[in-house]
Amino acid sequence: MDIPTKSNRKILVTQALPYANAPLHLGHILEAVQTDIWSRFQNLNGNQCYFFCADDTHGTPVMLKAKEMAVTPEKLINDTFKDHKSTYELFGINFTNFYTTHSDENKEYSEKIYFEAKKNNLISKEIVEQLYDENEKMFLSDRFIKGSCPKCNAPDQHGDNCGKCGASYDVLEIKDPISIVSGTTPIKKKSEHIFFDLPQKIDVLRNYLAKANLQSPIKNKLKEWLSDDLKKWDISRDAPYFGFEIPDEVNKYFYVWVDAPIGYIASMDNWFKKNNINTLDVWSKDSEYEIYHFIGKDIAYFHGLFWPALLSSANLKLPDGIFVHGFLTINGEKMSKSKGTGILAKDFEKMSNPELLRYYFAAKLNDKVEDIDLNFEDYVQRINSDLVGKYLNIASRSASFIKRNNNQISENIDIEFIKTLTDEKTNIITLYENRQYSKLIRLVMELADNVNKYINDNTPWKKDENDAVNISSTAINAFKILTIYLSPVIPNLSHEAYKFLNLTNCSLDDVNNTLSGQINNYKPLLKRLEPLTIQEDDDMENENLINIDQFSAIDLRVARILKADHVEGADKLLQLHLDVGELGTRNVFAGIKSSYNPDELQDKMVILVSNLEPRKMKFGVSDGMVLASSNDDGIFLISPDEGAHAGMKVK
Ligand code: 2FM
Ligand code: ZN
Repeated sequence: MDIPTKSNRKILVTQALPYANAPLHLGHILEAVQTDIWSRFQNLNGNQCYFFCADDTHGTPVMLKAKEMAVTPEKLINDTFKDHKSTYELFGINFTNFYTTHSDENKEYSEKIYFEAKKNNLISKEIVEQLYDENEKMFLSDRFIKGSCPKCNAPDQHGDNCGKCGASYDVLEIKDPISIVSGTTPIKKKSEHIFFDLPQKIDVLRNYLAKANLQSPIKNKLKEWLSDDLKKWDISRDAPYFGFEIPDEVNKYFYVWVDAPIGYIASMDNWFKKNNINTLDVWSKDSEYEIYHFIGKDIAYFHGLFWPALLSSANLKLPDGIFVHGFLTINGEKMSKSKGTGILAKDFEKMSNPELLRYYFAAKLNDKVEDIDLNFEDYVQRINSDLVGKYLNIASRSASFIKRNNNQISENIDIEFIKTLTDEKTNIITLYENRQYSKLIRLVMELADNVNKYINDNTPWKKDENDAVNISSTAINAFKILTIYLSPVIPNLSHEAYKFLNLTNCSLDDVNNTLSGQINNYKPLLKRLEPLTIQEDDDMENENLINIDQFSAIDLRVARILKADHVEGADKLLQLHLDVGELGTRNVFAGIKSSYNPDELQDKMVILVSNLEPRKMKFGVSDGMVLASSNDDGIFLISPDEGAHAGMKVK
């Protein structure tokens, strides 16, 4: 990116708005840290940068999650809001305003933009046929449907694509569809939907892609989508839906992806009102503000096409840039609890200092759309080697010499050496501006290495007190410069370092001022990290868990073995005749012959899965299954305690 040369730029940045149906995971934090570092850097460099966010509160998943929790959607989003806000604070994310899309401001701007689009003939209606869940009385989007693939017949496939043969299809084509919401078979039903005429905006979008600050793979992908067959965009959803009702319509709601990005404007408006800034001026075409969105690669379509088209329909300013990052993996794996990589962001604090994760992310982030791995061993090694071993080492080894001088800094320092650090300021600015944080961290650590070498070469411990203080004062001045360079990345540690140096907040210009006067005693700012122990989260979904309804679906009964027989021609099976009380008698073939003689089984009490589908075998029909446990020592039937009688339910 060409760095805007004017000073005191006015800049607005946003990160993607997190959905309000779940706690934040570390992937959210990666994006927040990337954006926060950029925003803090802009302010450090003398610009006015404001950072806005909000919870993304509308849509079916929020509505269903609230239902599952037996609370109102309002209660769910209020609780989530508090949880998200405090989690972001834990990681030092310095929002100008963290708001909600379920707000009056957002309703107002959503309606305003919709009316403008309507006035400009960009809104039309069409009948749409969709799958409808009669139990839940709701239309089902693709993600709430499963069924068999219309191409290869693979069962249990997603609504719009097959995981087995890779085919994409229309959800109406899927065979034997099942609603994930109720488990019932949906019907096809028609309803009128409201559309935004995206194709009318094709020239605006082409023009936008040519001018906006976008990474080239994203620009190419957006161009490709643009030259594909652009369709009108369905912006309405039928009731029941948690969202804003579309004005002048009955039971129609704005699709969540309409009011979500408008939530950026609403969060700004909520803060602007209190700060006497006119939102429509900021978003006018000749605005003096620059606007940038930080997002993940999965939502580039919405931000690169729908969003500029919507803004343009209301004659508003289009974002100056969209900065896209890749996904986060943990120890090389996608985040998943069963592999120990499903760590909730708020639980990271139990493992390590969240500020240090900012440093680690910065050390890995760049301006590419690449995925980023958080590797715990590498994390510990990186923090110990860089922050403890290089950066803070400068302060800890120099402070003792200055302490002997009553903590007075000498003004007789090595200006030439200090210049080697201040000369890097322009490079530092360029690297921050271009979001090349990993290069930036490398550069700062090279400088830290140079400072440690300077101390080693000048051996203050062998010098007289005056020289030792001069050398150490040079090193402490260097430490101050490195602290300023690192402050957008590690704001809390920098703050502690400033306290040690007797400084309050510094700006980037302060790298050129030399320290004078007295500093404070050095207290270690960070201890070496021990290997991390993984903190499993309790809230994330575990694929191995079943819910109580699934468990209750299994009808377990106490049964008495009336008689057991060998089965001719079967080496492993015994035939069991069971008394199951009110359910009558049952015939079951059980693979327990290696551990039991038929004689010893008579009158034994066992547990029967009574509603298992009957299985036809060549010896007859097996009507249920008895529970047993096995290992190398043998097979062990499970029996109830004395007193249980045949037919009793096990629950
Ligand atoms: O993908 C998501 O997590 C969305 N909640 C992001 C919304 S960003 C913006 F458009 F609101
Ligand atoms: Zn298939």
